[in-house]
Amino acid sequence: MHPAALIPTPDPLQVPWGWFQFLLLFTFFLHMVAMNIMIGSGVITFVKQLSNPMANEALCHDLSNQLTHAIAFTVNFGVAPLLFLQVLYGQFIYTSSIIMGAYWLSVVFLLIAAYGLAYLHKFRFTAWSAGQRRWFLGASLLCMFTVGFFFTNNVTLMQTPAAWLAYFRHPGGLFLNLAEPTLVARYLHFLVAAVATGGLFLAASAHLQQRLPAQERQARIKNGLTWFTYATMVEIGIGIVFLLSLPKPILHRFVGGDWLATSLFIGALIGSFYCIKFGNRERLWPATAALATTILLMVLVRDLARQAYLAPYFHPAELPVAPQYSPMLLFLLILILGLGIVAYMLRLGWQSTKEVQQ
Ligand code: HEM
Repeated sequence: MHPAALIPTPDPLQVPWGWFQFLLLFTFFLHMVAMNIMIGSGVITFVKQLSNPMANEALCHDLSNQLTHAIAFTVNFGVAPLLFLQVLYGQFIYTSSIIMGAYWLSVVFLLIAAYGLAYLHKFRFTAWSAGQRRWFLGASLLCMFTVGFFFTNNVTLMQTPAAWLAYFRHPGGLFLNLAEPTLVARYLHFLVAAVATGGLFLAASAHLQQRLPAQERQARIKNGLTWFTYATMVEIGIGIVFLLSLPKPILHRFVGGDWLATSLFIGALIGSFYCIKFGNRERLWPATAALATTILLMVLVRDLARQAYLAPYFHPAELPVAPQYSPMLLFLLILILGLGIVAYMLRLGWQSTKEVQQ
């Protein structure tokens, strides 16, 4: 059977595909930033609780407080790109989700477990010893890693319909895309990027916490930037392995075969070198700007790679449009309102933290 025969017929769009594409990329960028902070600060807290819990007690307590917020942002900023992904690539993501259905459904329970364990870790922080706490944080992180792994499985499976034929050998929803050559490098690429971002988050939040004694504050900034710089160096190595594991026609697009793909990819590489340079020189805000630019460019690169994978079957520009603009306008209005409310809530939260500190 030809894999194209397994692709369902897509529904028409209400507005041209570019709108959904922009919203998918924008909200996915927010999801990635929150996910990176969540996993990165979780991993750093865990390592510190393993290596020298007494010396890092206050730092781990602060990070444990921030972790639950990061989970909430990751999940909420994940819902939006999931909706836009379904609008643009529904016939692919629904099919791959069904093929790995048992694992896919387990994401909900894993998220609840990750959230619950992180809350226990936070609320019982002072009551428990570091030895007890690390089990809860470790288990919470394990759930998060598993969710990320299932996402990488699904995202790679949706863009390789040839792999869907496995359904006939595993019709019970217990299939993972383990034969995918990019899977491990791709997954590690996300995890190590998260550790780098977690380091930068640690430095930035210490910088903003005026109540910290100057020496402690400085030590946290330095330590966070060290995590950031070294993890970014490792990330470049993993990125090369990831790049080389791509199918040759797709790899070719990023190394001169397609000017847009090549320019974005080179831009992202330059961004990572600036991350290392600014991280190494302990220049916090330039490093933050370099990281934000790099993540944005990588999000674009990743999307072009997906389009290249699906090129033999489909491009979202081919989707028929049955114009209906009013729902989109209402959505945009609510999105702007929602983001405004989130910004307002963050401001209130920040002010109340400052009042508690004074
Ligand atoms: C512990 C929580 C989570 C982690 C660690 C996580 C991690 C990831 C990672 C690593 C990817 C990239 C996969 C790849 O390209 O190989 C991803 C993609 C994605 N995530 Fe999450 N995620 C989490 C929760 C969620 C939730 C709750 C949602 C939605 C309800 C969500 C929505 C998405 C979507 C839609 C994509 C793919 C976007 C695209 O391909 O354009 N995520 N996530």
